[in-house]
Amino acid sequence: MQACNTFISRHVANPMVRITPQKRQLRVAAVLVAPQIHRNVTHSLPPEKVEVFKSLEGWAKESLLPLLKPVEDCWQPTDFLPDSSKPTDEFEEEVRALRERTAGLSDEYFVVLVGDMITEEALPTYQTMINTLDGVRDETGASSSPWAVWTRTWTAEENRHGDLLGKYLYLSGRVDMRMVEKTVQYLIGSGMDPGTENNPYLGFVYTSFQERATAVSHGNTAKLAVEAGDLILARVCGKIAADEKRHERAYAAIIEQLLYLDTDSAMLAIADMMRKKITMPAHLMQDGKDPKLFEHYSSVAQRLGIYTVKDYADIVEHLVKLWRLEHLQDGLSGEGRRARDYVCGLPERMRRMQEKFEDRARKTGDSDGPNAVRFSWVFGREIKV
Ligand SMILES: [Fe+2]
Ligand SMILES: [Fe+2]
Repeated sequence: MQACNTFISRHVANPMVRITPQKRQLRVAAVLVAPQIHRNVTHSLPPEKVEVFKSLEGWAKESLLPLLKPVEDCWQPTDFLPDSSKPTDEFEEEVRALRERTAGLSDEYFVVLVGDMITEEALPTYQTMINTLDGVRDETGASSSPWAVWTRTWTAEENRHGDLLGKYLYLSGRVDMRMVEKTVQYLIGSGMDPGTENNPYLGFVYTSFQERATAVSHGNTAKLAVEAGDLILARVCGKIAADEKRHERAYAAIIEQLLYLDTDSAMLAIADMMRKKITMPAHLMQDGKDPKLFEHYSSVAQRLGIYTVKDYADIVEHLVKLWRLEHLQDGLSGEGRRARDYVCGLPERMRRMQEKFEDRARKTGDSDGPNAVRFSWVFGREIKV
């Protein structure tokens, strides 16, 4: 899972900043996609709809579970790390080589990589979130229901991501691991608020989007690692991105099934999550120093092209095409048709809004506060946001 972007997060109103009318106009557009804490709606899935998930158990067993890989076929973090079982001097040599490779990477790159790693490390939160969903939760902790098997096995695959990135970062010596570790502890303690209301229709729309967002983000960190000459780190990020893509296929397939079985509710759920905006899983991130840490991290990710507004719009567009939403007719109520039209038009609206925003910012030279902040993760060094 992964973080969002500057546009989505950096322009949230700060009551301490005086906003000129001109700036206010700019911010209005931006706030439309700002992360938010949702109303405390719970258990919005009507009880009878739990049956939909019961009826899909056979499908989940046959079609969903095979999208996860057997442990024996999976890569493990040690495949990409210096081999600590080797004699000390050989191990040291491999660590030295890793440090030489990472020397070409900038501090700002490390800020994004740390943010990505921290996001992965809050995995307990994500497993908890999926287990809040009615009809698919793991009722015992070791349930044999295919939904529960999926969630545990998915978690087990995901667990390798933060583990690998964390060890790589530790060995690089480029980041303040203690601050990184504190941020992880804070984040897991804070949880997340995706607005999914214990409702698996909403929950699986969220995970479909989110897994693709992470695939995009890790794919882009891989590209930048290639440019900077660290081909092993590029492979690391590429391997993680490939896992995320496989997971996205699975979650998107669940929504496909729901669209087939219960078209109107599924369409309304997609629109509901898009209206709420997909809140990024690490949106409650903090390090005890920078109260706007998530915004600043997202801003650097946007500036480096690792995860941008354009990516967000592209993901919505991809899902619209994948789920063939434009062609949905049968089974839609009036509200369902309006939901369909809203979602299908969303990518274009977002792009237009972003263009307008950038145009205005260019013309007015608008700047939202400081253009450089100190990140504790890189020993308090200043990074442009
Ligand atoms: Fe993921
Ligand atoms: Fe992941």
